[in-house]
Amino acid sequence: MGTAIITGASSGIGETFARALAARGDSLVLIARRAERLDALAAELRQKHGITVDTLAADLATEEGQARAAALISATPSLTLLVNNAGFGTRGYFHQCALDKQEEMHRLHVMATMRLTHAALNVMIPRRQGAIINVASVAAFGRSSYNTSYCATKSWMTVFTEGLHLELRDMGSPVQVQALCPGFTYSEFHDVLGVDRKSIAGWLWMKSEAVVADSLAALDRGKWLVIPGWFYRAFVAVMTKLPVALRVAVESRNPQRKGRGPR
Ligand SMILES: NC(=O)c1ccc[n+]([C@@H]2O[C@H](COP(=O)([O-])OP(=O)(O)OC[C@H]3O[C@@H](n4cnc5c(N)ncnc54)[C@H](OP(=O)(O)O)[C@@H]3O)[C@@H](O)[C@H]2O)c1
Repeated sequence: MGTAIITGASSGIGETFARALAARGDSLVLIARRAERLDALAAELRQKHGITVDTLAADLATEEGQARAAALISATPSLTLLVNNAGFGTRGYFHQCALDKQEEMHRLHVMATMRLTHAALNVMIPRRQGAIINVASVAAFGRSSYNTSYCATKSWMTVFTEGLHLELRDMGSPVQVQALCPGFTYSEFHDVLGVDRKSIAGWLWMKSEAVVADSLAALDRGKWLVIPGWFYRAFVAVMTKLPVALRVAVESRNPQRKGRGPR
């Protein structure tokens, strides 16, 4: 039993990670901007499982929020798991989207992930224990019009995680990293984005409980790349094997531009 730190724990996949890890008896630190949501979840999990749950209300797209979260990680010697999960999407052609939102996305998906991972590895590697889950997306493998920055940043998270996996293996370190790449998942993600879920075929949706169960089970098996759902695994298997010209031809037919939003 150790301490798990989860970003974006106030809803969706992050909240589900918190519930699953609390049931395993881990101590938790929950991070997001909405303090009241974090405090309510923390109180519920403490009461239900008799565990220690702390919260940190922080905006991880800011220098100050990243610094506070990184300092907390550095000061947690019992850290056994970091879940870099906080994220959001935007909709629209890149040049038409507000630039500040695009920058915010890069600061959250890229800079916060990099900074918190750096802090966590410096706790975990000397102690030869721990794992980091970076919640990316199947969007890392299938670019799409209307979601350019989202696909690019999720791709970065996946490549970054693969690189760390190689480095940890090089070093013979037992510390693990995982890129978790879900497809469409029930959460508040599409509400924040203003996308009607009914515009997306029902069979494409997964429950966050299934996504998190796949991730944690794969961690036990030492897998660095996890794509929940056989249809998403098939999608990635095909998309990553197509010649570039064919892939771009397939992607040009992607209906996301009609407003489905990213996954
Ligand atoms: N749902 C999907 O279909 C899907 C598919 C593939 C990948 N994903 C990825 O899964 C992750 C979790 O998303 P979700 O689906 O669970 O959506 P969600 O329910 O909207 O949760 C997003 C979480 O991120 C937090 N967050 C957003 N901006 C933040 C910031 N600047 N600083 C700190 N926390 C921030 C939110 O909390 P506050 O608002 O309280 O800060 C919330 O807890 C994201 O990285 C997303 O890209 C989602």
